[in-house]
Amino acid sequence: MRMRVKKWARPELDECPFYVKDPAEMRGKWNRAFEKNAPVHLELGCGKGVSTCLMALENPEVNYIAVDINTSIMGVCKRNAENAYRGKRAVDNLLITNFHIEYIWKFFAPEDVIDRIYISFCNPWDKRPKQAKHRLTHTRQLSFYREFLKDGGEIYFKTDDDTLFHDSLKYFEESGFDISYITYDLHESGFSPNYETEHERMFSSEGVPIKFLIAKKQPKI
Ligand SMILES: C[S@@+](CC[C@H](N)C(=O)[O-])C[C@H]1O[C@@H](n2cnc3c(N)ncnc32)[C@H](O)[C@@H]1O
Repeated sequence: MRMRVKKWARPELDECPFYVKDPAEMRGKWNRAFEKNAPVHLELGCGKGVSTCLMALENPEVNYIAVDINTSIMGVCKRNAENAYRGKRAVDNLLITNFHIEYIWKFFAPEDVIDRIYISFCNPWDKRPKQAKHRLTHTRQLSFYREFLKDGGEIYFKTDDDTLFHDSLKYFEESGFDISYITYDLHESGFSPNYETEHERMFSSEGVPIKFLIAKKQPKI
């Protein structure tokens, strides 16, 4: 369901110290944007950041960047981050920003060296080529991610959608990734730690098994 526009989101984000207003300006400089020098994990299509905020709070030795196209949703993510960190510490290892991930090359350069990417419950799109190319796991997208994901870096991919999962296996293989972990029922697999996202909670409560894989970037194909 589409979220209603939240008029408060833009002014709140503009005042937020961990919101990056101009992500293009950060191209090539993301690793220097954090207080601590640490591996950087990037979440694509983070939504309200339900899992992101908890994951970032519990892993202070990692820096996180969370991206979504939708400003209203990002406003909720910002509030969720503040609530998660409140009374513990400042939001010191999480940056949030808005951009269209299909144009990620405008915002990330090879110098940005990302250790891990999370893609959870992205839009499955139709499998016809014109539509499928918008999938965040499509080979076109993977070729962009390869530019800044370090060799041996990983993509954690979760979905409820069988067709998208099946097709993504092919996309990863074609793009020089090895599948180092795969399960067709994440919650039965014993995989840990698993940070449950908002959509994961919704689908699993409806009895839909969550498909999950880790794809590891191999050096040049
Ligand atoms: C189905 S929600 C999943 C949210 C969250 N990852 C979860 O698992 O609960 C997909 C999210 O991706 C965002 N999104 C979809 N396409 C995008 C794009 N091309 N660029 C940036 N964000 C996008 C949407 O705004 C939405 O918040």
